[in-house]
Amino acid sequence: DASALDDEFARTIADDLRIEPRDWMPDGYRKTLVRQIAQHAHSEIIGMQPEGNWLTRAPSLRRKAILMAKVQDEAGHGLYLYSAAETLGVERAELTEKLIEGKQKYSSIFNYPTLTYADVGTIGWLVDGAAICNQVPLCRSSFGPYARAMIRVCKEESFHQRQGYELLSTMMRGTDAQRAMVQESVDRWWWPALMMFGPPDDQSPNTEQSMEWRIKRHTNDELRQRFVDMSVPQAKALGVTFPDPDLIWNPDRGAHDFGEPDWSEFTEVIKGNGAANAERIANRRAAHENGAWVREAATAFAARGQESTR
Ligand code: ACO
Repeated sequence: DASALDDEFARTIADDLRIEPRDWMPDGYRKTLVRQIAQHAHSEIIGMQPEGNWLTRAPSLRRKAILMAKVQDEAGHGLYLYSAAETLGVERAELTEKLIEGKQKYSSIFNYPTLTYADVGTIGWLVDGAAICNQVPLCRSSFGPYARAMIRVCKEESFHQRQGYELLSTMMRGTDAQRAMVQESVDRWWWPALMMFGPPDDQSPNTEQSMEWRIKRHTNDELRQRFVDMSVPQAKALGVTFPDPDLIWNPDRGAHDFGEPDWSEFTEVIKGNGAANAERIANRRAAHENGAWVREAATAFAARGQESTR
């Protein structure tokens, strides 16, 4: 009966075991996962655009090959995640539809434009760095398919983070103009990167329940703090600064104090009013519509294969 199923679910969570697609789960758990995994998948797919913008203008063949590999990895991450969402009974087509109708969110970070080539490095270092910080604990998320997808995603994100850092450190060994370009880029991306972790804990409607269900393992503020502490020594090694006058080591807490991101900007960006929201969605919609013939052909081909094996 219902309460036995509920107990079984609660025990699985308490024992730190995984919930699998065929297991009974509360409706709210399923809904939360679909929301988070869909948002995550959309972020990977939309996330191809800011860097894709520089593919044809990469400064060398080596940089172009690296960037192409990275952008393709993001497409792969989107596919693993849509597959994980499908195990919960939703269709990828339906999720894509919701994305291009503006009914489902994707990460705020991808609504900022990439103005210089240094942005490719900064996105790798800070944006993918923040993504890793947020996603490593998701490898232990209570839902099996999501947790397993995260393992491979995190390995690939680590490569992305290092290529970004390597790109920036190469530029920092270059000319004064290149160093200035790196600093200007870091100044633009620092605050939006901190916003990737979501609203402060006391304004995060989902955190408490998601922690109870062990979908999330840490709160938004805990991960933001971890990211700041991790990034400060890296910035020092690189020779750049962060645009935050309140950023300072606090020996009593054994952590850095830092300023408050502009949460009104965050709210505007997730409402659709960021610099690049309209462009990102228009591009995604066009790619989806232009790809309709490929999906139709693949479906017809698969149907023919089934007939011939009958
Ligand atoms: N960008 C867009 N929307 C956000 C962001 C953000 N940076 N942070 C929070 N939100 C949304 C939440 O999805 C939620 O939306 P809702 O209206 O559907 O409920 C709302 O703001 C309130 O936030 P929270 O209650 O804190 O939501 P949640 O518990 O889901 O935590 C978080 C947000 C931390 C982003 C979580 O969903 C998560 O860990 N997601 C997986 C990681 C991910 O999506 N990464 C994508 C970017 S990284 C990359 O692709 C390189």
